[in-house]
Amino acid sequence: MAYEQVIESAKEHFGTVLQQQLERVEMLKEEGDWTDYSSISPIIIGMLGGDGIGPSISAETQAVLAYLLRDEVASGKVEFRVIDGLTIENRAEKLQSIPDDVLAEIKECHVTLKGPTHTPEQGDGWPNIESANVSMRKELDLFANVRPVRIPSQGVDWTFFRENTEDMYAVGSQGLNATDDLAIDFRVITSQGSERIIDAAFAHAQRTGRDKVTIVTKANVVKTTDGKFLDIARKVSERYPGIDWDGWYIDIMTAALINPARQKDFQVLALPNLYGDILTDEAAQIQGGVGTAGSANVGKRYAMFEAIHGSAPRMVQEGRAQYADPSSLLRAGAMMLEHIGFEGLGGKLHKALDICGQYERKVITTGRNTGATSQEYGQYIMSTVEDPTVEDRWQEYVETVG
Ligand code: IPM
Ligand code: MG
Repeated sequence: MAYEQVIESAKEHFGTVLQQQLERVEMLKEEGDWTDYSSISPIIIGMLGGDGIGPSISAETQAVLAYLLRDEVASGKVEFRVIDGLTIENRAEKLQSIPDDVLAEIKECHVTLKGPTHTPEQGDGWPNIESANVSMRKELDLFANVRPVRIPSQGVDWTFFRENTEDMYAVGSQGLNATDDLAIDFRVITSQGSERIIDAAFAHAQRTGRDKVTIVTKANVVKTTDGKFLDIARKVSERYPGIDWDGWYIDIMTAALINPARQKDFQVLALPNLYGDILTDEAAQIQGGVGTAGSANVGKRYAMFEAIHGSAPRMVQEGRAQYADPSSLLRAGAMMLEHIGFEGLGGKLHKALDICGQYERKVITTGRNTGATSQEYGQYIMSTVEDPTVEDRWQEYVETVG
């Protein structure tokens, strides 16, 4: 094919991508205010089971949350709703990453707790539809992916603010095969998108008494987009004179996170989407594995809480779904409680997860029949949260192991 033809059709393709992104920037400029959950009654919590081990760990998480919120449910302040249909079978049948009717139900909820959903990739037998996670983040404009990692006994207390709607993910399905040999993807970083995630990170640092925010990019190489992210960080930091900030490159950051001499230096970290995806898996592994880490996908209007791992289809194929560790989704549940105004309950659930998963370990899941079931583990967590001495047990943990 002549170059001219390739270039013309690429221009057209790029024009469409650009048009959509320009329109998106206009929408970002019109963004509304944060939802005030204290004025909402009932707060509707949607439960989405998902695929693979999802239904098993979701059921357990719902049981724990329904128990912790029993008074609020009785008084009508909170309502749980189970939403079916966000399964790979239904999504494949409708050829939609989130079927319309499921999306409408999700939008009737204030927050959702979502089990992992299978993400098809080319050649795995499912239609290559977009990831349900990525669609939901875009549809509900859940721009902040907040991922805490804590190992109190080692002084590790990190909160990652991963930008959740831009970067390689914004138009990840709209790349261009210019010729058989030349493939090009597009990376999107906007001023508005960067500002709101970086501001959320600084605001979180201020609210929780932290004094430093770390910005992670590769701005020395990816000069235009990461350069913008870093520039915006400089600007936002001026609004927070009491909080220091520093910039790190993603490569050395992956090394620093596993360097015991460095680990205590980090508190709140803000980073573009793909670096955030990768770095938070590493961070979760330091805490004990991706099965232990929860994630909040937060926008001004909606919020969705989920595990950071996938649906583990192999566990289901081998008949082991009931042995899945529900800690990740329970962590997400704790974050949800904090987000909708039940900070006390959320804090206790976090502490119970620390005690049960990192210290006492009286009930252990192994992912197979050599360990406890999701349900047995959930009951262990529940009895720990309800124990009036939970705060003392947590203090003891931090002092003994530390
Ligand atoms: C995550 C996951 C998703 C992502 C996948 C399932 C699309 O890895 O939540 O980190 O890449 O964001
Ligand atoms: Mg990931």
